Amino acid sequence: MIAEDLFDLAPVIPVVVLDDAADAVPLARALVEGGLPAIEVTLRTPAAPEAIERIAAEVPDAVVGAGTVVRPEDAERAAGAGARFLVSPGCTPALRSAMEATGLPFLPGVATASEAMALLETGITAMKFFPAEAAGGAAALRALAGPLPSIRFCPTGGISPRNAADYLALGNVGCVGGSWLTPASVVGAGDWPRVRKLAAEAASLRPA
Ligand code: 3PG
Repeated sequence: MIAEDLFDLAPVIPVVVLDDAADAVPLARALVEGGLPAIEVTLRTPAAPEAIERIAAEVPDAVVGAGTVVRPEDAERAAGAGARFLVSPGCTPALRSAMEATGLPFLPGVATASEAMALLETGITAMKFFPAEAAGGAAALRALAGPLPSIRFCPTGGISPRNAADYLALGNVGCVGGSWLTPASVVGAGDWPRVRKLAAEAASLRPA
């Protein structure tokens, strides 16, 4: 799988924060059943590596990745847990090298033309656009398509059912990411039918 392939899995990559690894499998099943197989588990909680491991082992139809890959050592740790892709909020040369060294597809985060150009110089053409709404939203991405037509983005940060379709309508948007599919209150309550319903609504934002 190359990074661009992530864009074809579903219109939305759920961004998941898990406090309890025991929630990982039922949550991933609900997302997959709803039609969202690519799942980004953020490395923001101590439970994240085990959550990734469990999803990789027990939910074969999921494509589980690691998000919030910030330090170079996070990349190898995520790969070791079984992550199949990596996502970072921003990028540095050391982090890019570490993500590349895993051999996994990855979406490094950018928020400006210069950051995107620095990665483009290294051959990377698939990136996360973060924080999407705060960094100019769909209008910013539309503007970047002119001078940087070879880059495709996964905007994340402030995306919701209200604005997701505006992003997905852009030619340089491959998919969007967001945490609205798995609100903490819903995960805390173990309300997996609700997660499945939110996922199904998100999956229908772009016809399969
Ligand atoms: C991320 O890590 O990409 C964001 O925190 C997700 O943003 P959201 O919570 O606004 O969807």
